Amino acid sequence: MSAITTLSLRHPQGDTPIHVGAGALAACRPDLAAWIEGRTVFIVAPARVRELHGEQLEETLAAAAHRHCLEVPDGEEAKELRVAERLWAEMLTSGGKRDSRVIAFGGGSVGDLTGFVAGCFLRGVEFLQVPTTLLAQVDAAVGGKTGINQPAGKNTIGLFHHPWKVVADTELLGTLPAPEIRSGLMEVLKMGILSSPKLFTRLEDGLEDLLAGDPQALAPAVAAAIQGKIDIVERDPTEKGERRLLNLGHTLGHALETALGYRALRHGEAVAYGTLFATRLALRRGQLDPVIADRIGGLIGRFRLPELPAVATRDLIEIMARDKKARESGLSWILPRGLGECEIVADIAESEVLQALEPFLTDPFVG
Ligand code: GLY
Repeated sequence: MSAITTLSLRHPQGDTPIHVGAGALAACRPDLAAWIEGRTVFIVAPARVRELHGEQLEETLAAAAHRHCLEVPDGEEAKELRVAERLWAEMLTSGGKRDSRVIAFGGGSVGDLTGFVAGCFLRGVEFLQVPTTLLAQVDAAVGGKTGINQPAGKNTIGLFHHPWKVVADTELLGTLPAPEIRSGLMEVLKMGILSSPKLFTRLEDGLEDLLAGDPQALAPAVAAAIQGKIDIVERDPTEKGERRLLNLGHTLGHALETALGYRALRHGEAVAYGTLFATRLALRRGQLDPVIADRIGGLIGRFRLPELPAVATRDLIEIMARDKKARESGLSWILPRGLGECEIVADIAESEVLQALEPFLTDPFVG
């Protein structure tokens, strides 16, 4: 077993330790046993995750007085009010109390839903994040954002409720399909561009091992990406300013996901195209060294993304205009200025975006 790295996120509700590495779940067993001893524990997980990894988690829960598995759908379907209501009802009828414990066991959507359910149940009970996808380990499970969707908008209902702990066990990633690893690694690359030239170089040097999903190779990259996120979230826990940097690649990425109906591209793939576009925009504005732009484009090229499906420029512009109205802070672009340095640009004229977007949609890899 490789060494487990323990990071710590200081936030307004306290401190959250984050254990990262191959075998982190087994290494946390004594802590988990003490946390659940004599209590009622609710495990929130999709059936598929329980089938694949349930045994490993169950082994650590023997000390609980009662265990209840609450099954939820996989993906965005989990983040619905009717799912949250069902969980609250099941928790109440199964004897859930203020000292009960809740465990999120799944991808980012399961973590978002579970944190929301735990944060509202009896005005807040403790919960543990055990993310089982790379995307959730490096992003969604860290930082205390929880929530569900409304038909009018994604993540529009929610609260900041930080987990008691995050256990990012890279051995759990061994069953992920290759495109899921690629999608998660894109968020790692995002953190490299945002805050860590060292992490960016690590990706340049070892991308193939990482794409192959090797748990030992992934562990230090996951830890470095999480540390990058911790640094930003500690300075701006409730996203008043700097935390918006974490949306690098998401302005166009979200619009692509919406225009393509969340089917043609995975989240990380859409963010990859969004990051390429942000790089191109920064280059056109003379704000980025072309050598750095080439390195970013070259590295994203090595991800072998699925081809960008045909999508109308006008549709994307309209979706972004709608997003701008829906978001409290308006629509902002996160533009790279160098490796480890990005800036938030509040408003870029639609005509400028249009001029850059048309050629980009024809050939995203030529700047
Ligand atoms: N996923 C972006 C954030 O946590 O702020």
